[in-house]
Amino acid sequence: MPEHTVRFLPDGRSTCVPEGKTILDAALAAGVMLRSACGGSGTCGQCRVVVRLGHVDAPGSQRVRHEDAARGMVLACQAVVESDLEVEVPEASLLSEHQVLTAGRTRGRVGGEGEGEAEGEREGEGVHLRPVFRKTVLKLPEPGLEDASSDLTRLYTALAKEEGSRNFQVGLELLRKIPRVMREGAWQVTVSCVDARGMTEAVDVSPGRDDAPIYGLAVDVGTTTCVTHLVNLLTGDTLDVRGAYNRQARYGDDVISRIIYADENGDGLAKLQGAVIETINSLVAGAASQLGIRGEDIRVVVAAGNTTMTHLLLGVPPTYIRLEPYTPAATSVPPVKAREIGLAVAPDAWVFCLPGVASYVGGDITSGVVATGVASSDDLVLFVDIGTNGEMVLGNRDWLLACACSAGTGLRRCRDPPRDASHEGGHRARGG
Ligand code: FES
Repeated sequence: MPEHTVRFLPDGRSTCVPEGKTILDAALAAGVMLRSACGGSGTCGQCRVVVRLGHVDAPGSQRVRHEDAARGMVLACQAVVESDLEVEVPEASLLSEHQVLTAGRTRGRVGGEGEGEAEGEREGEGVHLRPVFRKTVLKLPEPGLEDASSDLTRLYTALAKEEGSRNFQVGLELLRKIPRVMREGAWQVTVSCVDARGMTEAVDVSPGRDDAPIYGLAVDVGTTTCVTHLVNLLTGDTLDVRGAYNRQARYGDDVISRIIYADENGDGLAKLQGAVIETINSLVAGAASQLGIRGEDIRVVVAAGNTTMTHLLLGVPPTYIRLEPYTPAATSVPPVKAREIGLAVAPDAWVFCLPGVASYVGGDITSGVVATGVASSDDLVLFVDIGTNGEMVLGNRDWLLACACSAGTGLRRCRDPPRDASHEGGHRARGG
């Protein structure tokens, strides 16, 4: 199949696409972020561009005025590339530069419960931090004729004393390493542990005291933007905060359009999942380069998003979230390994998605309610999250009432009325 070069003005970016692709496809390949609220269905009219040179096959559209069409304006999502092209992108058709608000950074000292005095501070408030991934230094009793228990038993016994738990496990690779490391460290070792799926898993062991930092990533998976916080899990300090447009925006700018895109295109779900992972990976790469570390140094990830975003992050079909009676595949999902979803952190890092309550009250809201103290307040508090999707929670430590609606562009367009149009509704949850 012949390929054609498409050059975008004014910045001059260009790419080659096979004949039959649209200008919107070419823009995505070239890294030109066109607005595309309808996900390429030709209904929003946001992706207007002007073809300066070359030929396209573009149907007429009510979204392009007659006089504009006469000067070469087309909808990029509908215009099929038929030759090399030069395309001018009006500023109004571009996603604007993104700004991230990063107030309220958390700094503090972190320790396991076994260390007794774990504490931190959040804007003057005492916070107890116990990361799910942590290091513990253990002094092990030397084996002798009176105590010839196995190396692993020795490790588990010492860990149980420090961690206050007996539910441990190790993988085969670590088991192969343990005998050598224990002796190298003269029976002092540093064990890295992570809590997941009801177990404490020892994932690494090194001789002696290992004070090298360990890193965790918190991700706000927003419909419009993603924000990452890279945290030193030994100190509790947030080292880097950055954000970017969620690259899923190219497939629609609200959750309903994205669910429709996932349902109506064979590889739609894979594309949406790939786009958000691409977004997060680019933020990880930026943070890692800024701090002089590698993505693989990040050992645990916690993600908060609305219910649809959580489904798309994990590649779980979100179909029934928009169909009466609005049932998600899950509101609380088990942790997954980073390699299962393609995150560019340590491949065996656990990814924890914060649990939601219902189809339109997700982990972003529950985490907000917990972090702001609404769920432990004696007073009645109203919590409002104004994003592309809007949610409100009213309540205190005894009860919480949540409701949600489209706060952004979602109310402008409804493609499948009446059964899937609205997600306005309330959900009652127990407080505390
Ligand atoms: S009209 Fe082209 S993306 Fe909406």
